[in-house]
Amino acid sequence: MKFKKALFGFIDMIRFSKIVEKRKEHLENGSDEPLPATFKVNELAKELHPGYMDVELVEIKTLTPVMKEFTFKRLNHDKFPFFRAGEYVSLQTKINNSLVSRPYSIASSPAEAFSNILKLGIQKEGLFSTYMFEKAKVGDTFKMSEPSGDFHYETLRDNKNIVCIAGGSGITPFISMAKAKLDGDEDYNMTLIYGARTTQFIAYKETLKDLETKGITVVIVLSDEEKEGYEHGFVTAKLLEKYCDINNTTFFMCGPTVMYTFVRKELEPYKLPIKAIHQDAACCGDLKIANPRAFKLTVHVEEDTYVIDAKENETLLVTMERAGINVPNKCRAGGCGWCNSICLKGEYKVADGREKRRAADIKFNHIHPCVTYPLSDMEIIIPLAY
Ligand code: FES
Repeated sequence: MKFKKALFGFIDMIRFSKIVEKRKEHLENGSDEPLPATFKVNELAKELHPGYMDVELVEIKTLTPVMKEFTFKRLNHDKFPFFRAGEYVSLQTKINNSLVSRPYSIASSPAEAFSNILKLGIQKEGLFSTYMFEKAKVGDTFKMSEPSGDFHYETLRDNKNIVCIAGGSGITPFISMAKAKLDGDEDYNMTLIYGARTTQFIAYKETLKDLETKGITVVIVLSDEEKEGYEHGFVTAKLLEKYCDINNTTFFMCGPTVMYTFVRKELEPYKLPIKAIHQDAACCGDLKIANPRAFKLTVHVEEDTYVIDAKENETLLVTMERAGINVPNKCRAGGCGWCNSICLKGEYKVADGREKRRAADIKFNHIHPCVTYPLSDMEIIIPLAY
């Protein structure tokens, strides 16, 4: 190998020859004070990212015949971590012998987190939500993950004009986004388009009225009822054109998958860039298979090993939860990587459209159990939840 001689390189060599001497000198002159037990930057990181929190349910409010709002306070702490409006938390509790978690969008504002308030709007559907709707009571305690997710406004990416399209309980992240704007934590022009079957199913009625008086355009679209003061039908391109300049807008959607498909189809002719439409991720559910095959799933968690029954149509995460195993998870949609595990043996299938693993993770047999279905007996290693 040839070295190029340069004057400055030569000076560096002289400096280098004195490095041992210099190091000794610095060590001799250094302070012998012990290092602090913690550093400010680590303390701040812990405040913002506490992992799991212990929370207590302090209030339940009925919003519609199928939706309630649940207010939580954090135990052993005087505030929740700050978050971006639009994010979600994962709530965990024991139902029968299963340890179950579900992600829910936050309905309160980031500013309210500093007053130890965090609200979730939950619609009665599925195991966990029905449990919350029918059985949860004030005073109950839960585990809650730190706020997470990328369904929020980004100044550099998004247009200043945003249209938020909600269906059913999909209204919750937009209540938070509207409050964050009014608190001065976000800066956008917001139009909220909210689809409900009839007026009976409109959640947050008073809050929506209040938002309208404070500069947020609120449009309610009723699909099964015609009434003065409301739009009727579905969220079509024609309706969107009435309330925004489609080519000069960023769309946020939260609601049922059928709504995403419908609105995307309506917007297709406008050839919008990918970044112009964001949709909140939905949990990965069971596969529709007439006679699902049964398998054995061997699970290693640190020193413990469990052998449990698995089914072809159920994700590995649901299978493990049903068996009472505490599996770390947040989004249940394949995106956050929180459930990242290692597959030692077996064949599997990743849910359609949910492959979010990096190439290196795939190569080294990492899997996301929340979106993985077994195709044979399997053996996996999962991380410890907490
Ligand atoms: S829980 Fe988010 S990737 Fe599995």
